[in-house]
Amino acid sequence: MFNVLCLCFYSSCRFSVPVFCPAFHIFYPVPGCFLLPPHLPSAYFTYLRLMLSISERGKLMPPSPIRKLVPYAEAAKKKGIKVFHLNIGQPDIETPPAIMDAVRKADIPVLEYSHSAGNESYRRKLTEYYRHVGINVNHHQILITAGGSEAIIFGLMSCLNPGDELIIPEPFYANYNGFAIMAGVKVVPITSHIENGFALPPISEFEKVITPKTKGIVICNPNNPTGYLYSRQEMEELRSICLKHNLYLFSDEAYREFCYDGEFISAMQLDGLEENVLLMDTISKRYSACGARIGALVTRNKAVYDTAMKFAQARLSPPGLAQILAEAAVDLPADYFNAPKAEYLSRRDLLVKRLNAMPDVFCPNPGGAFYAIARLPIDDCDRFCQWLLESFSHNNKTVMLAPATGFYGTPGLGKNEVRLAYVLNKEAINDAMDCLEKALEVYPGKTIPQKQKEGSAVA
Ligand SMILES: Cc1ncc(COP(=O)(O)O)c(C=O)c1O
Repeated sequence: MFNVLCLCFYSSCRFSVPVFCPAFHIFYPVPGCFLLPPHLPSAYFTYLRLMLSISERGKLMPPSPIRKLVPYAEAAKKKGIKVFHLNIGQPDIETPPAIMDAVRKADIPVLEYSHSAGNESYRRKLTEYYRHVGINVNHHQILITAGGSEAIIFGLMSCLNPGDELIIPEPFYANYNGFAIMAGVKVVPITSHIENGFALPPISEFEKVITPKTKGIVICNPNNPTGYLYSRQEMEELRSICLKHNLYLFSDEAYREFCYDGEFISAMQLDGLEENVLLMDTISKRYSACGARIGALVTRNKAVYDTAMKFAQARLSPPGLAQILAEAAVDLPADYFNAPKAEYLSRRDLLVKRLNAMPDVFCPNPGGAFYAIARLPIDDCDRFCQWLLESFSHNNKTVMLAPATGFYGTPGLGKNEVRLAYVLNKEAINDAMDCLEKALEVYPGKTIPQKQKEGSAVA
């Protein structure tokens, strides 16, 4: 009987009945449930449940464009197909055993909250690391965060109001979209182009989109997803525009250690921009320690630091065990990075060579990080990446790539581009490139590049 009543109530909630209101001489739509005699309170709660809603912010939050193909990869694996994951920046380099040992050997009677800004011993130690890479800061200017991700969120939350605008050269790290939505901030993309290797767009492009609501510029150097390493001149240009328009410069330097060609210039080294720069840092890629969840927000702007500290206090503290690991990492021998860097460099060379040897494929040489964007002769990268997992295999193997559309803020851009992360060993990269080459021969949505089309028309 109870169930019948609930069902009846539930169904009646979904329909409105027009009821005449004599006071205003109009009909009001009244949910059917209110026309039923008052009954069981649980039915009332069923009604309330129907009324619960999701926040607008939650609805706006984009799903990860990198992870959306995961179910297709899982289905391919269930069919027994080997999938080469070039889609995600999870390094395969071993986490240094010495830093894992530091955690194992730690004598911790109580795993307490740490200081909200992170352990003072770690922050002091980090100043040594930063000095070594040419960044002079003290431990009061470093705030330890749960990964670089939290540093970015704290940075945006501390400096921008809802409705403010943030200029980001595209293609950009896709999660910046999500972080901007969390902060209620509008991302204004300016396009960098594959033809010149995704160099910083000319300053005139920045000037065109600056409005009174523009509060900052975000760069990622060296860049994820393009691998582009900003030159000294480009960094100077950014400095000038930030000073001219009084903008923050949010500099994500997650891949600082992996620069192959050219010189790395940190935003923290730009003279006169001390108050404007927020460095967003992480140990995830540096020490192949993505699971540690340790990053840092570094700024010389005291007001920004103090504000970020309030966000840090609200979440109490960064991970405790992982700070021990991160502190030990500063003591790794100075030549520690030589081997991983040499490995990434040789993978990059192999990947770029293989890609550019494929008909109608173009891949600029990335100067740093461990990503490359390639232009392929395809109609739609989302369709192509799904097809690779759903409908293609070569010798029972296939490759998972990240569609580049997810890294552009301007709709429609990047449709014939994919991002590849060279986080697998060279044998796997070679196998993956064999798969891609074969796939491009048989993909039903293969396109004829414009130049070739024009050529054949003339012929
Ligand atoms: C450019 C960039 N910034 C930030 C992050 C976030 O890193 P973390 O693992 O430290 O949160 C990533 C992760 O891939 C990244 O590529």
